[in-house]
Amino acid sequence: MATVIQTENLAVSFDGVTPVFEGLTLAIEKGEFVSLVGVSGAGKSTLLRVIADLIPAFKGSVRVDTPNDPTRRAIAMVFQAANLMPWRSVEDNITLGLEGIDVSDRLKKERVRWTLDLVGLGAYADRWPYQLSGGQQQRIGIARALAVDPDILLMDEPFGSLDAITRNALQDELLQIWKETGKSILFVTHDIEEAVYLGDRVLLLGGEPAHIINEYSIGIERAERRESEAFLRKVEKVRGGLQHAINATPSAH
Ligand SMILES: Nc1ncnc2c1ncn2[C@@H]1O[C@H](COP(=O)(O)OP(=O)(O)O)[C@@H](O)[C@H]1O
Ligand SMILES: [Mg+2]
Repeated sequence: MATVIQTENLAVSFDGVTPVFEGLTLAIEKGEFVSLVGVSGAGKSTLLRVIADLIPAFKGSVRVDTPNDPTRRAIAMVFQAANLMPWRSVEDNITLGLEGIDVSDRLKKERVRWTLDLVGLGAYADRWPYQLSGGQQQRIGIARALAVDPDILLMDEPFGSLDAITRNALQDELLQIWKETGKSILFVTHDIEEAVYLGDRVLLLGGEPAHIINEYSIGIERAERRESEAFLRKVEKVRGGLQHAINATPSAH
């Protein structure tokens, strides 16, 4: 398998002295779905930002496999808030993600149609953000990210503000999109069940300075994950690991 993200001994520091995390080595393979959980403030969001090249590495390196195609990007991000522009239609919000890359008007239209179909909102191109529910807004946020046809989706607690029913629906839709498109996904969440439900693997970030302190391979068919004994055991195992990390992190108290 090809590695699409590789970090080696990575550290980030905001003051040039104290690292947020240090010695962080991870590899994500093409088509993998990896969940990332961790102590609050351990640097999960920071890790996504350094992978996306929004902030520099302090030590070590990040390597991201980049497509040789000007109509695509290597990486797109999805955040907890969709942050749609209220004065732009759904279609124009999606094409916002395409600004700065080389796409014809025809390809833009195709990308809008393709991404809206992927998120199940094919008939919503002409709507306005205020006409959408929270779940629909977040679907448009995902469509906007997919519009650059990225190899990698970095998702930072994307369902964190949704009600439980909508959240479950979006989890299943995301799995469907992942299967259909073969994207590689790095998904940050503080919800352990969500992490175990979605991921092929769950990485645990903790310690001081933080690093990947544990990795859980899930290995249960997704169709059997929601309520099976094996799933609940795995959730308890990851929860125990996280609790242990919190107890060992003085600043997390
Ligand atoms: N722009 C920034 N400037 C200074 N410190 C920051 C900045 N962004 C994050 N931090 C600090 O880095 C640490 C990790 O933050 P973050 O990555 O947001 O953690 P997490 O997402 O795991 O909760 C925290 O101590 C936070 O205060
Ligand atoms: Mg965060």
